[in-house]
Amino acid sequence: PEGKLSVTDTSTENALIKAAKILQQPGGVVAFPTETVYGLGGSSLCTESVKAIYAAKHRPADNPLISHISSIEMLRSKLLAPGQEIPEVYKPLIEKFWPGPLTIVLPVGDSNKSPISPAVTAHGPTFTVRMPVHPIARALISISGIPIAAPSANASTRPSPTQAAHVYHDLKGRIPLILDGGACDVGLESTVVDGTVDPPMLLRPGGVPMEKIKEVGGPFWQKIIHVKKVAGKNEPVRTPGMKYRHYSPTAQVVMFLNSGNGTDATHNYIAEHRLNGKKIALLRSKRFVEPEDGVFQVVRDLGRSGKAIQKNMFAELREVDELGVDYIFVEGVPEDHEGLAIMNRLTKASSVIVDGGKETIRGRD
Ligand code: TXA
Ligand code: MG
Repeated sequence: PEGKLSVTDTSTENALIKAAKILQQPGGVVAFPTETVYGLGGSSLCTESVKAIYAAKHRPADNPLISHISSIEMLRSKLLAPGQEIPEVYKPLIEKFWPGPLTIVLPVGDSNKSPISPAVTAHGPTFTVRMPVHPIARALISISGIPIAAPSANASTRPSPTQAAHVYHDLKGRIPLILDGGACDVGLESTVVDGTVDPPMLLRPGGVPMEKIKEVGGPFWQKIIHVKKVAGKNEPVRTPGMKYRHYSPTAQVVMFLNSGNGTDATHNYIAEHRLNGKKIALLRSKRFVEPEDGVFQVVRDLGRSGKAIQKNMFAELREVDELGVDYIFVEGVPEDHEGLAIMNRLTKASSVIVDGGKETIRGRD
């Protein structure tokens, strides 16, 4: 429950203690559940541990990590440099959204004084931090007593893991332990905001909708700008994660925008590209109707609400991919509230976007 840590059974307690011991050793990494997605954690204060995270995921070393804390006191005592304060601008957001799916950017300050491993920040001038609400995540951080750097616990480029089985699928044999906390509630990653610049920037849409940040953040946060651009390989980027291929199943993902109830748009696409006989999965949500039998190998309903679609999306991409389909057709949604983060992830997963009949090939970079 929010604000409280309680471990109710001994097997959970034993698993947490075992995981905490691994995290306290140099190079020790553990996968654990958060309310957003599963994380692959290691000490933010230990370069050997952080390197082990990058190695297990095959993650490019220039893409920095988020540090996870269990209390504000931990942020002050273990991540900030001596004399450094939490920037005032974050106070209303911290009050409203922590613990929860919001990540903030802070200056590293004097790198000689900062306790954070430079591998966490990819040697950059800023670091990111969030306080998860998931009780297992918070208990793990609190018992180990160290801030935990954790990217999503998928192999790099794969859809983010929202169940322990997804982590096992991607990382088995490469990490010593996965804590299984069931399916993640939010289902996609935290919102990343940078308030060290004016106007502030939304670096990654996520579990906390941008509308909510504007609503509670006062005049400063009402100016927030969404850094929408997906940068090319050699361009400087605000948030390094943007330039890499992401969230991709093995099958080709085709996303349909402004396509009514989906029947004409999907049928036309199949006809134009001569996909009859191909194995195609359909992921429908708000408007697409149940198609007639025989067109798709499998049809999944992601739900009607933004929250439901968010929660199911990555799991369904993985599940239908496992069936060995050639294509995954997915219905796009309006880009407001939860829709902004959903569309951010689906766009990156897609190789083709069909917008009211017009096709854009994304070429997965
Ligand atoms: O919900 C989440 O945030 C999950 C769970 C495990 O907490 N973690 C997660 O981590 O999504 P990861 O590594 O998959 O994504 C971190 C994102 C990347 O896009 C990265 O580029 C950005 O945050 N990031 C990290 N540190 C940054 C920094 N100092 N400046 C700008 N962007 C940063
Ligand atoms: Mg990730």
